[in-house]
Amino acid sequence: MSKKTSAAATSSNSNVTVTDNVSGKESTFPILTGTEGPPVIDIRRLYAETGYFTYDPGFVATGSCESKITYIDGDNGILLHRGYPIEQLAENSDFLEVCYLLLYGELPTSDQKSEFDRAITLHTMLHEQLTNFYRGFRRDAHPMAIMCGVVGALSAFYHDSTDISDPHQRMVASYRMVAKMPTIAGWAYKYSLGQPFIYPRNDLDFAENFLHMMFATPCEDYEINPVIAKAMDRILILHADHEQNASTSTVRLTGSSGANPFACISAGIASLWGPAHGGANEAVLNMLREIGSKENIPNYIKKAKDPDDPFRIMGFGHRVYKNFDPRAKIMRETCHSVLDELDIRDEPLLDLAMELERIALEDEYFVDRKLYPNVDFYSGIIFQALGIPTTMFTVLFAVARTVGWIAQWNEMIEDPSQKIGRPRQLYTGADRRDHIPISERS
Ligand code: ACO
Repeated sequence: MSKKTSAAATSSNSNVTVTDNVSGKESTFPILTGTEGPPVIDIRRLYAETGYFTYDPGFVATGSCESKITYIDGDNGILLHRGYPIEQLAENSDFLEVCYLLLYGELPTSDQKSEFDRAITLHTMLHEQLTNFYRGFRRDAHPMAIMCGVVGALSAFYHDSTDISDPHQRMVASYRMVAKMPTIAGWAYKYSLGQPFIYPRNDLDFAENFLHMMFATPCEDYEINPVIAKAMDRILILHADHEQNASTSTVRLTGSSGANPFACISAGIASLWGPAHGGANEAVLNMLREIGSKENIPNYIKKAKDPDDPFRIMGFGHRVYKNFDPRAKIMRETCHSVLDELDIRDEPLLDLAMELERIALEDEYFVDRKLYPNVDFYSGIIFQALGIPTTMFTVLFAVARTVGWIAQWNEMIEDPSQKIGRPRQLYTGADRRDHIPISERS
């Protein structure tokens, strides 16, 4: 098959003609342009017109949907939510303002913001019976395993908000999920410690309440450090959405069959857990501890470059960012300010991380492949300074990303061109053959 482009790809009148070199048949496909980013070839009629599927493992060159929520320019390190740069949101918004923006498309007025904050606050409690679910887990269960289970279990509790064709019910489910996630996460942590669950407090803001549910006990209140609460809020903003990544695509694909929204978010949590995605923040800290000291860095760089060694520098590289991850830049600054504020003068893991970054960024292997630190490279060091255990790192990511998942899920349900997600395949297995009775098999 050969390809010729019939006009400049920036015009909506453009198209691409493909020629089948076997039959000589030409087929033309429209080029669609968005507000930002490269144009896309609309191949929805490719199979009907040519008899060919496309083959793109990992969806490297495939757009799965149209979206108005988040835009990433990976070559220039740009991340926009509803058009607003992440740097401006991290500096000027709080997490719930970003949630409102992602869900509704605009920044709220002050009345809308107060009403939204109040509504989220009123949904923070969990059904009391959910405590029984926690008790079914082993004490040493990974908190992400508990998150998958408990969030999935919400689908059995909130029957008044699961008619996905009703926009009001969808919004109630969305509020519930954003509001309850810190409670679910805080309780997962408490369960692992063997401490009693701490109930949410309506006088605290989102980040403060989350810290309270993780660190207070019935015998002693947790004194909230404003610096820690501010850092937590900023970390939540930095993780709120990231267009069609693995977990978001999982939520969309799961939801495309009309599945229960709480179950869809549980599927997203499962996808996020993997070390190639949200699990990288936990993996970074484990890796830094394993490297141990600066003298060992060259050895690990060597391992990362060895094609026969599966080791990778965790927190490095990204499918889309090929220049720098703007979230990593803010995260590094936040990391320094948190350590300063907490008067942590000597943090060996931070020194190690900075040295590893310096060496990797000067190494031809990483430069050639455009591998830069991603958002997870520094987040673990902040979490550790805040007193959060390693196994909770990806849970924090899930708390933040829930709003992105639910905003994308809502957008998918409202999209008139939405269909059940059903990729095709390149089959390379056995041809048709007949069953042989077991006694005749050699
Ligand atoms: N360390 C060493 N080499 C790497 C790394 C790394 N962290 N990341 C990519 N490479 C190399 C690959 O070996 C490959 O080399 P090759 O061309 O010689 O075969 C090349 O760079 C391209 O890598 P791919 O795996 O094809 O890139 P892909 O876009 O599929 O993967 C990913 C992106 C999964 C993020 C990858 O860079 C990675 O595994 N990084 C470490 C895990 C991590 O930090 N994940 C968090 C991502 S951000 C997030 O989810 C919030």
